[in-house]
Amino acid sequence: MKIVLKIGGNEIDDPGFLSEVTALVGKLRKANHQIVLVHGGGKEITALLKKLGIETHFVSGMRYTDVKSLEATEMMLSGGINKRLVKTLQRAGISALGVSGVDASIMVAEKITREGDDIGLVGEVFAVNVRVVEDLISEFVLVLSPISLDKTSGESLNVNADYAAAAMASFLKAELVIFLSNVPGVINSGDVLPEIQERQLEELKKNGVITGGMIPKVESGLRAVKGGARIAVITDAAGAGKIAAGENAGTQVKV
Ligand SMILES: Nc1ncnc2c1ncn2[C@@H]1O[C@H](COP(=O)(O)OP(=O)(O)OP(=O)(O)O)[C@@H](O)[C@H]1O
Ligand SMILES: [Mg+2]
Repeated sequence: MKIVLKIGGNEIDDPGFLSEVTALVGKLRKANHQIVLVHGGGKEITALLKKLGIETHFVSGMRYTDVKSLEATEMMLSGGINKRLVKTLQRAGISALGVSGVDASIMVAEKITREGDDIGLVGEVFAVNVRVVEDLISEFVLVLSPISLDKTSGESLNVNADYAAAAMASFLKAELVIFLSNVPGVINSGDVLPEIQERQLEELKKNGVITGGMIPKVESGLRAVKGGARIAVITDAAGAGKIAAGENAGTQVKV
């Protein structure tokens, strides 16, 4: 089956996390699944921007992106992190190909605002080159940076990695999309919620249960299932391992 695996940027520089992800991907490839591995870059992008003296801020869980920070973000996402993942997988004998949404117009995006707020050079994917992706995943694990091609300017746009994974899962009609993060699922009063339904979302946001980066993540799970993906789950590496073994884990997002 077609599986979209989104990994968060919080632990992407942690060798322990990378070996867990590698083991998971290896297991899934052995079972003949086809995989798109979409990655974020949160922490390392923030660190690079800081090093370059570029100030950033977040609006509703999304990073504001000006021209300078887009350049640095693309450098880190499509260069450093993407290639680190490709090399890590290949050292484990897993054939991997790294691209961003820009290559072969794999993801074409349009500039967006967030709840009426301008968030700079940030877009949302509205088209995926499904034919190319399907070709590539028959042979490789496709390691995908979420930077996408702006349909109007022909330049790059930053896309939240969760939304990019949702778009990819929708267009591919993936059987499974896992949003793999540094938390075992959506936590409420100390417990992982086994599922979240769309009608609960506003309430959970209003009560401050779901905040920050978890907001686009739950929304992405919803978009994915609405867009044609079969199952969307939010979990961590341990949870994803369980799911690969046919067990339940994390928080399933349902319409
Ligand atoms: N109810 C909640 N349950 C669990 N985590 C939550 C919740 N509300 C907010 N969060 C926060 O959401 C974070 C996960 O989202 P975040 O965007 O930081 O990570 P990511 O998407 O994996 O990484 P990146 O954005 O770099 O790709 C958690 O680390 C936690 O701080
Ligand atoms: Mg995030």
